[in-house]
Formats: sequence, structure tokens, C-alpha cells
Amino acid sequence: MHTDMMPTFTAATTASTQERTAGAYMSGFNNEFATEALPGALPVGRNSPQRAPYGLYAEQMSGTAFTAPRSHNRRSWLYRIRPAAMHQPFVALDNSRVAGGIDDFPPTPPNQLRWDPMPMPITPADFIDGLVTLAGNGSPESMNGCAIHVYAANRSMQDRFFYSADGELLIVPQQGRLAIGTEMGLIEVMPQEIAVIPRGVRFKIDLPEGSARGYICENFGALFRLPDLGPIGSNGLANPRDFLTPQAAYEDREGAFKLVAKFNGRLWQADIGHSPLDVVAWHGNYAPYKYDLRRFNAIGSISYDHPDPSIFLVLQAPSDTPGVDAIDFVIFPPRWLAAEDTFRPPWFHRNVASEFMGLVHGAYDAKAEGFVPGGASLHNCMSGHGPDTETFEKASNSDTSRPAKVDATMAFMFETRTIIRPTRIALESAQLQGDYFKCWQGMKKNFNPEKP
Ligand SMILES: [Fe+2]
Repeated sequence: MHTDMMPTFTAATTASTQERTAGAYMSGFNNEFATEALPGALPVGRNSPQRAPYGLYAEQMSGTAFTAPRSHNRRSWLYRIRPAAMHQPFVALDNSRVAGGIDDFPPTPPNQLRWDPMPMPITPADFIDGLVTLAGNGSPESMNGCAIHVYAANRSMQDRFFYSADGELLIVPQQGRLAIGTEMGLIEVMPQEIAVIPRGVRFKIDLPEGSARGYICENFGALFRLPDLGPIGSNGLANPRDFLTPQAAYEDREGAFKLVAKFNGRLWQADIGHSPLDVVAWHGNYAPYKYDLRRFNAIGSISYDHPDPSIFLVLQAPSDTPGVDAIDFVIFPPRWLAAEDTFRPPWFHRNVASEFMGLVHGAYDAKAEGFVPGGASLHNCMSGHGPDTETFEKASNSDTSRPAKVDATMAFMFETRTIIRPTRIALESAQLQGDYFKCWQGMKKNFNPEKP
């Protein structure tokens, strides 16, 4: 375990240490971290002394059952200026674009579905205003399944903070940088990176470039973890050291702020008189992290055929059934294709799992057109799909005697065990491509019983 005590800062009198710790991260996945923004703010050798240093409040935050096996047990101890309990009562916040329970989902068609990118907002909208639920399954109440949101925002969150009690947020930026000030410190991500904010962790998002757009998988169930590697060995795919967790940084700020909660599929808002990003020190393994998808060690065939796309698994959220994940986060990064006498793009297929795809940038190698950065596709359980006609013709006649590079691309998939149900907004949106099915209608009949 790698534990990295941060360099000490001089004591902050007011304002924020968050700016000063930009880019200060600790490395490793699910490590037992220990970090303090003021020297000596972390109690030594105990979690809950009679009086915590600097007059801080000690608070535990659990991310798994207390009795979860040690290898999966997640919790952190936070030492903060005011306890998280200190805010006014929550009242319902009207936001019909964020969907929750099963009532929000109309009948799910078995069609292949594809969307153009959601437009950028015209009026000022922060990360919360710009959140739209496209699809989901399971429910927050049962702590099972996920919601798939997209966000499009053109201003920073001003004096309001957010958390989801429903699940951890896997954020996939597609356009624009995000500066995510969390209780545990500052995370900055750009497109081709991801951030994961644990269930319950409070944060605000600033937009250093003025606007941003991206995708979110909100995981209601067991936390994302790194997959086992089996015969691949001890290295490969996403390597643990490339996951970065921020060092402690805090704001000591008072004012008329709002705390927005996503709770059981709905948004709620409470008045809060101080910034909840007031954690001066923390230790534990329940914390936000980021990962640069360009560091993914892609593995593939060096003989013939290509393996199942599980070879591109970055993070998995397991289900209660061994070997079956509730959610897989899979990417299709730049890579060499070397398989000889092989149809190299993804083959035609129908899967028991359901696949929601997004594109961060570039083009996806199974679709010549129509699937654009910021857009999305959904191929549900047993819905046939695969390369479009143009891609099939090209790949069937290409030279496979030498390797080819799939370059300048970053596509991803949220693949789930259960059917992904688009929301009414998604099914009725102008971005839904009514003609998507046509990309397979030009497939030629090549069959000739006389020609083996
Ligand atoms: Fe697929």
C-alpha cells in the first residue's frame, strides 16, 4: 500500500486550500490513504479522540456495509470544520429532467437506438441544471442498477454543492475541463479522463473553459473495482498506480449556499450556511479518484480473431452472481489491429448484456458515420447490431497481412446485466435518430451455394 502524506501548508486563515492543491494527488486504486491540509490535523493512532486537532469534528463515512470483507470494505474518516449534519431541511427541487424510479420509464423498445449529442444550453446552466437522464435500470431504492445521464453546462456551480445518495458517479467528460472540488480535495479532469465521485461525497464543479459536456454512469450497486486479470497476469488493462486521489484541501467559507442532494431518484435542496468542502484532513479508502483513459494498456489478438470486448474492461461493478457484472465500464482506445485473415472491426452480435455507448472523440471503428462525439447508442439485450454496411464492405476487403492502427479515437461503453430503459426525454428527444436502423438495410446478399 502506498500512502503519501502531503507536504505541509502554512495554516490557512480564510478561504481555501483547494486552489493551492490543484494537481496534488496520491496514486493507487482503493488504497488506505492518509492526507492532511494542516500539519497534525489527522489524529495519530486513533480515529475519534476526545477532542480532534484544530477543533475539528471527526466523522466517519462508510461506502460499504461495516461487515463487508476487508478486501471490499470502504470507509473514510473525515476531520472537518462542521459536521455534515449541519444544514437546513431538504425540500424537493423541481427538475423533471433527472429521472429516478421505474415510473419515469415508458415501455422500452427492442430497437437499436442512437442519439445525436445533446445541445449545449442557451441559458446559463451549471452542472446540476444541465443534467439529463437518458436511461437507466434497477433503482436507487434497491441499490441495484444504474442511471445514465448526460450533462451540458455553461457555467460553474455558484454557491451550491451536490451529492448523490443514490450511487457513485462515473463522470466521462466529452468536451471541456472539469474542476471538481470535493470534500476530499480537488480533482481536475479533461476529455479522455474520467472521475469517480463516491456515493454521498459532496462536491461542486467549476468549468475552467466556460462550458462542458459529458456522460455519467451513476452506479446504484456495488462499487466499481478493477477486474481480475486471469491469464493476462499481474499487469495490464487499467493499472492501479494510474488512479489518482486528491490530497486533502478545504474551504473555510460562510454564506448563503445551497446543498443539492440526489436521493431516491429525485433532487432535493437545502440551505447551508457554510461550504461543505471543509474537510481539513482525512484517511481511508472511500474517496474520489480520476484516471486517464490514455494510460489503458489495451490487449488484443496477435494471431487471428479478436477477443470479446471484456478485454477492454476498465472498471467493473460486480453483481451478486459470480462472474456477472452489474455494470462494466469498457473503452475502445487507440490500438493496433494485427489479427490476420480476420474481420477486424467488432463482429455482428447479439448479447445478453445491454450496451450503452458514447464517443469522447474521433470515430468508432464499427460505424463509418452517424455516431458522433457526444452522441450515444443503445443496443439492448438480444438486439442485433454490428458494423454498418460501409464498414463491413471495407473491412471484408482490406489487407490483413499487416497491422493497422485505429488511431485518434476514444469510445466507451456502459454495459449492464439488465435491460437499459431509455427515459421519456430520451425517446421523445429531437436527437433520437429515427433512421438509425437503415445503416444495416443495405447489407448485400452474398450467399451463393455454388461457391464455397
Ligand atoms: Fe455491441
